[in-house]
Amino acid sequence: MIITVATMKGGSGKSTVASCLAVYWHLRGRHPSLIDADPQRSIVRLAARERALGGVAVVEDATEDASKTARRLASGGGLVIIDTPGFRSRMTLDCIAAADFLLVPVKPSPFDVDRMLDTIGILTDRPDGRRPVFRCLLTQTTRDSVIAKHIRSELAEAGLPVLTSEMTNRVAYPEASLWGATPSLISWKGPAAKEIAAIADEVDMVLGAQQAAA
Ligand SMILES: Nc1ncnc2c1ncn2[C@@H]1O[C@H](COP(=O)(O)OP(=O)(O)OP(=O)(O)O)[C@@H](O)[C@H]1O
Ligand SMILES: [Mg+2]
Repeated sequence: MIITVATMKGGSGKSTVASCLAVYWHLRGRHPSLIDADPQRSIVRLAARERALGGVAVVEDATEDASKTARRLASGGGLVIIDTPGFRSRMTLDCIAAADFLLVPVKPSPFDVDRMLDTIGILTDRPDGRRPVFRCLLTQTTRDSVIAKHIRSELAEAGLPVLTSEMTNRVAYPEASLWGATPSLISWKGPAAKEIAAIADEVDMVLGAQQAAA
């Protein structure tokens, strides 16, 4: 199972989402591999800090072979999460193509949505016509804000599925990363950890439903 986190927009929360999900599933005993395919090395740098992402297996591969590395790691039945760079490259496209599930984080702003639509365009343009399961995830939202609701309905109108769970704007995310941690490692029952759990469980539910249908 390969989950690729991608969008052609910098700073949308890709690395935060990828690391939070990896740590969450690691703590639940799933032991995922987290591939850092971004030459910025955000995940690798995070894992070099004190809490080392709680021991999540981080694999650095920002080469053209990143998707092959993902397929190899997933071939034994393991869960693989790929953090991709916020720009279009052959490697990003390959990582999207390799995904069983594409998670597209988007901040609730029209600029971010426009860039995200480019990403979705790549999906629909695949030569084999196969469309991986994908969901948009609203990130850095303010609870009950008008803009988040507006963007949510705009995406729905465009036929783009959005996870019900959101990653809200919380200082707990950058604070945890100071220690190379995610909120799930700091306080399992805290509000940020709870929203990560909700996002992860929703992804699992979509994947479970998909597998049952296959
Ligand atoms: N839910 C959140 N609440 C508060 N801050 C957040 C949240 N998500 C991400 N951030 C902060 O926003 C910044 C960008 O997030 P992140 O690095 O995850 O984005 P990215 O999409 O991986 O960026 P890039 O395209 O540069 O790789 C970081 O400083 C991160 O700590
Ligand atoms: Mg990043």
